Amino acid sequence: FFGFSKQLTLQLMMAVGTAVIGSLQFGYNTGVINAPQKTIEAFYNETWYKRNSEYIPSTTLTTLWSVSVAIFSVGGIVGSFSVGLFVNRFGRRNSMLIVNVLAFIAAALMGFSKLAESWEMLIIGRFIVGLYSGLSTGFVPMYVGEIAPTTLRGALGTLHQLGIVIGILIAQIFGIKEIMGTPTMWPFLLGFTFIPAILQCALLPFCPESPRYLLINQNEEAKAKSVLKKLRGTEDVDADMQEMREESRQMMREKKVTIPELFRSSLYRQPIFIAIMLQLSQQFSGINAVFYYSTGIFEKAGVSEPVYATIGAGIVNTAFTVVSLFIVERAGRRSLHLIGLMGMAVSSVLMTIAMALLDQVKWMSYISIVAIFSFVAFFEIGPGPIPWFIVAELFSQGPRPSAIAVAGFSNWFANFLVGMSFQYVEELTGPYVFIIFTVLLLIFFVFTYFKVPETKGRTFEEISTPLSNNMRHCDYSVPCSLTLFLLHTADYFYIHYVLHTVLLLLYCKSNMIYTVWCSMQYFSIPF
Ligand SMILES: *[C@@H]1O[C@H](CO)[C@@H](O)[C@H](O)[C@H]1NC(C)=O
Repeated sequence: FFGFSKQLTLQLMMAVGTAVIGSLQFGYNTGVINAPQKTIEAFYNETWYKRNSEYIPSTTLTTLWSVSVAIFSVGGIVGSFSVGLFVNRFGRRNSMLIVNVLAFIAAALMGFSKLAESWEMLIIGRFIVGLYSGLSTGFVPMYVGEIAPTTLRGALGTLHQLGIVIGILIAQIFGIKEIMGTPTMWPFLLGFTFIPAILQCALLPFCPESPRYLLINQNEEAKAKSVLKKLRGTEDVDADMQEMREESRQMMREKKVTIPELFRSSLYRQPIFIAIMLQLSQQFSGINAVFYYSTGIFEKAGVSEPVYATIGAGIVNTAFTVVSLFIVERAGRRSLHLIGLMGMAVSSVLMTIAMALLDQVKWMSYISIVAIFSFVAFFEIGPGPIPWFIVAELFSQGPRPSAIAVAGFSNWFANFLVGMSFQYVEELTGPYVFIIFTVLLLIFFVFTYFKVPETKGRTFEEISTPLSNNMRHCDYSVPCSLTLFLLHTADYFYIHYVLHTVLLLLYCKSNMIYTVWCSMQYFSIPF
């Protein structure tokens, strides 16, 4: 670990630190509308009264609030699809700089909405800050990945995730009554986005442009070299330059796959389906119901200081993100996802029991706190980080950008659905709302168990082999293990080609095409 310190130059730390302000903004705006819900709803009510001389109907209020929460994800969808328009035209760093304009506009709209007595301004502001978030969640990982040396790429990449959860935590703390969660102060709470934006604008000009962008997109070799020297703190950057060139050559060699092709080609259909389901499993696990509405949930569960319980959830969230940073690199993705989903399912059952028994048993409110905390903890072990890992590992360079775009869309869209519908569903189901998440979590558990392959430390060929159904038999059955064992032995006698085909024909005769295909596969891969 301490070997890293030499590579971790001041330049690099500053550039990464400045970039992850973008992640912080995303987290902040995810968590910020949670604690002051009641306060801002009262403002909607008041404004409605001033305009229409009657109090707002409660269904209208639910709708307006749900829209205010969920329109953030609509902005996110649009933003995440526009990342490509920026990064190759303006460069990574300048893109991050430019989109701060959105953060300023959003902060102004939300911050002055009370003064202007306009909830429309607040809703538009939420949309624009969502747009900003969609863009910066594309920019930040890209920039950080491109300026970090290979050995530090994983470790520094996780700072994006950490930035998000710390942003959520800060928002939850600022939202308490003692700080900014009051009828007079909440505009400052929402307008706070202004300050990280200023900070980032002040620091970004001192950060270097991504050397990869300079070399590959701009063909500015000298500039790329000088940037690399500063970032690495050494004169000898030839190896890095070579690696970038090699990577880009590899990318050129593999044809880019468009989004429609992903769905049309039988080669990608199954992996993209898995990628989408994993993103849905992240959002439909109900995590954002907690991050958007936990204060209200705790209040209904009879917790006396719901805002502090919300902060507690934020702390658990941050702590377990750190824990998972250490586990994810080592453990299998699939197992972590399964553990996370099951843990969340159990927690949501616990939550339901706690809410249902609240009237009879007073201390059930404590159980609900425990349930939400473990819900969040298990999220950060599995469904939080894992879907992104698996999507990146399921696709090679050619189809990866399109696959990540589709995954991003599914994620934001599901985020929108949860944010928009949670309150309505809660009104309908009462204390049993978490049962819905339990059912969904179990469905995703079963899906992951049967359909999602382990991706850690395996090549794309290895991963894609068991994906197709008719191949599964052969891969896991006893005859096939025997086949492979014999093949390994045969390898020493130079007869494995023949033997391989014969054995496969014997055991997998039900599917000739597969057999031929499989043999061809193994011929090209040395044992
Ligand atoms: C709106 O405010 C009035 C007066 O404070 C209150 O009686 C009413 O319940 C509020 N409406 C809603 C939907 O919260």
